[in-house]
Amino acid sequence: MTVSPLPHPLRLAGNGVVLREWAPDDLDDLVAMLDEPDIARWTPMPSPFDVEAGLAYLKRARQGRLTGQRIQLAITTDGLAPRGEVLLFGVVPARREAELGYLVGAPYRRRGLAAAALTLLTGYACGSLRLRRLLLRIDPGNLASTAVARRCGYRLTGEPPIPQEGPYGPTSLDTWEYVAGRPATRRDRLRNVASRRYGRRT
Ligand SMILES: CC(C)(COP(=O)(O)OP(=O)(O)OC[C@H]1O[C@@H](n2cnc3c(N)ncnc32)[C@H](O)[C@@H]1OP(=O)(O)O)[C@@H](O)C(=O)NCCC(=O)NCCS
Repeated sequence: MTVSPLPHPLRLAGNGVVLREWAPDDLDDLVAMLDEPDIARWTPMPSPFDVEAGLAYLKRARQGRLTGQRIQLAITTDGLAPRGEVLLFGVVPARREAELGYLVGAPYRRRGLAAAALTLLTGYACGSLRLRRLLLRIDPGNLASTAVARRCGYRLTGEPPIPQEGPYGPTSLDTWEYVAGRPATRRDRLRNVASRRYGRRT
């Protein structure tokens, strides 16, 4: 098994979602989905996200897929209209490690789509790609995203926060991890409960 280059094309189905490759026809849906305040706040997307940004995004997604550097799939419920996106990138083969990311369009949130898509891609990454450690980088103020991470079995690590410049000034990203084959310990569960109640613990 190899994790580089990453498989293309790819279609994953399960948990009530179908993850499929982006297509040029998705441009209008993509722009409608990404031109939105929460996407601007919590992701590195340009804002406003217009047709030009959409075209550049689809082009970059395709290049990343053709070169096998990333997995970047539209989240759908039926293989048709995109409702969000889930990604896997930054593979470090020597450490069998990669980073994942996700977003869901505002009209489709709170239906379990992000959790379903992240669970599916996590399973594929650990099973088919044989990755061992998967990472999420999340602003601790992003309660929706930390809830998704927790729900999918990721745990907050003690790694130092990563500083970054957000649209509302400087902020930082926490690192969450999923380690293949390691069941969550009681300590992990308590730590995640603590992060939910009190925010990041340093
Ligand atoms: C984060 C995001 C992807 C969540 O998508 P979603 O499809 O609404 O999430 P789900 O419906 O799968 O919810 C999964 C869990 O998160 C919880 N959740 C979702 N949105 C929440 C919110 N705004 N506040 C608190 N909890 C939330 C759900 O209740 C559910 O929890 P539970 O089942 O364990 O009780 C979506 O809000 C989004 O796209 N935000 C903007 C982009 C972003 O922040 N991406 C992540 C960057 S790190």
